[in-house]
Amino acid sequence: MTQDELKALVGQAALQYVEPGQVVGVGTGSTVNKFIEALATIKDRVPGAVSSSEASTARLQALGIPVIAAQDAGELSVYIDGADEIDGQGYMVKGGGAALTREKIVAAQSRRFVCIADESKLVRTLGAFPLPVEVIPMAAAHVARRFAAMGGTARVRVKDGAPLVTDNGQHILDVTGLQIADPLGFESQVNQWPGVVTVGVFAHQKASVCLLGTAAGVRTLTF
Ligand code: 5RP
Repeated sequence: MTQDELKALVGQAALQYVEPGQVVGVGTGSTVNKFIEALATIKDRVPGAVSSSEASTARLQALGIPVIAAQDAGELSVYIDGADEIDGQGYMVKGGGAALTREKIVAAQSRRFVCIADESKLVRTLGAFPLPVEVIPMAAAHVARRFAAMGGTARVRVKDGAPLVTDNGQHILDVTGLQIADPLGFESQVNQWPGVVTVGVFAHQKASVCLLGTAAGVRTLTF
């Protein structure tokens, strides 16, 4: 099976976690795009979705799924999103699509986080994927020096020759060279640094379940 087919498989499988009559939290990325396509086939059963990015909002609306503001939705029963890395405890690195801040907010207001990913995302230790960190632009150099002191190398993410600007008007640092052995402690530590908006380690908002696309079918990991 191709990676695209694996993503479609888990996107479809995630429908079993969508509760009829309940607003669903929707993440961002190519795997979630498959979920959004699947969700459109049962859209008459849900009142709508809380979206984690402008990109997902556009896709949801194009398929006729109402988008509800996070602040109007209350607690959500489920949030469905992809990951750049997930470990055996459900801790994740996210933000490859630059949507990590809103993703973490919607995850935090949801009782259950269902991660959908192809099997290439399962890792023993987080850190091989460059860690996305959303920062206030004036803090970028200072935050980069803090990562350098930890042995990491931080670069401002660039798009079309200029720093990428997130949906929140901020920048992204991508940090290589880290081995994140203690995701909970690491997330707490980096969250304290002035100018950090969101660190892409999702440990305090870890997955409850991961639907992993494999050549043999969907493997369900429960944490
Ligand atoms: C976006 C994310 C995505 O969930 C992550 O990058 C995985 O994306 P994809 O499903 O395209 O591999 O965190 O900010």
